[in-house]
Amino acid sequence: MTVLVTGAAGFIGYHVSEALLARGERVIGVDILNDYYDVNLKFARRDRLMRHDAFEFIKIDIGDREAMNALAAANPDITTIIHLAAQAGVRYSLENPFAYIESNVIGHLVMLEMCRNMKGLEHFVYASSSSVYGGNTKLPFSVDDPTDTPVSIYAATKKMDELMSHSYSHLFGIPATGLRFFTVYGPWGRPDMAAYIFLDAIFAGRPIPVFNNGEMMRDFTFVDDIVKGILAVADGPPSGDGAPHRVFNIGNNRSEPLMRFIEMIEKAAGRKAEIDFQPMQPGDVPATYADISAIQNEFGFEPSTSIDEGIPRFVEWYREYHGMDRN
Ligand SMILES: NC(=O)c1ccc[n+]([C@@H]2O[C@H](COP(=O)([O-])OP(=O)(O)OC[C@H]3O[C@@H](n4cnc5c(N)ncnc54)[C@H](O)[C@@H]3O)[C@@H](O)[C@H]2O)c1
Repeated sequence: MTVLVTGAAGFIGYHVSEALLARGERVIGVDILNDYYDVNLKFARRDRLMRHDAFEFIKIDIGDREAMNALAAANPDITTIIHLAAQAGVRYSLENPFAYIESNVIGHLVMLEMCRNMKGLEHFVYASSSSVYGGNTKLPFSVDDPTDTPVSIYAATKKMDELMSHSYSHLFGIPATGLRFFTVYGPWGRPDMAAYIFLDAIFAGRPIPVFNNGEMMRDFTFVDDIVKGILAVADGPPSGDGAPHRVFNIGNNRSEPLMRFIEMIEKAAGRKAEIDFQPMQPGDVPATYADISAIQNEFGFEPSTSIDEGIPRFVEWYREYHGMDRN
């Protein structure tokens, strides 16, 4: 089968593409390679994918209707789309909300319109986020919990993706699955996310900013677990009467105190962090914790990497990528 992966030069898109290629699929990767974070990291991921003959990279803005439709018309063998391109990040959505509307709302609509016209398409899988749960205080977060009180424009755009996907699925019978990711970390991870920010600061001897005085809990999910879940879901499109659209949580099903996460990073880095406690950030939530029973029951999804195992693997990659001495 041929799989279209959007956001292929991004953190999760890179790993998903590698996994698809490893199992013999043909992959078309799309990414705009924007500079939201260090673009060299995106180039490096893309270049690794381009070593595979079965990988083709196309630089396109998913909001460009003509370009996306031309891509679909030129590749009638695409059976699956794994749509991960987005403007990510909660905090940046307070600074540049339009980037979120352009990529996550207009871009998502362009993707759905494209799906509508693709005769051979069997499944549209797309990224949502745990942030749709907003200020929900009931833990763990279940897919049946209300998600109509987003606390950032990022969260609002991800909820909108779910709503738009449902309506397209209902109107045009497009089999679609939304996945609510919970704080993903691991090798080739994002420089704007906690694990990378903390490690960078520890190695540079800078204090690390810790919000809400460290009273935060996160369902940290190792990227290899997420990838296994995405592929299992991609292989099982929803069917049946009504809108063939489902939404699942995909997390580690364990909520860790942020301070324990930091301790693991200190241990793997072999250095102590200097901690700069700060108040809660607007748009942030104090805790995330995924109830994954639905995806467990339906797809046998079982995350197996604890932070005790995953953090050292992330730190090892970081040292190698930055050409650091291992000692
Ligand atoms: N990493 C996480 O913890 C996490 C958590 C929840 C949800 N998500 C979602 O998962 C998906 C992948 O996240 P990630 O961590 O790999 O982020 P990422 O920023 O590393 O990857 C996203 C990629 O999309 C590309 N992109 C952005 N706008 C585009 C556009 N208009 N056209 C084409 N390409 C565009 C970017 O250049 C980037 O390479 C996103 O939808 C994100 O919102 C991630």
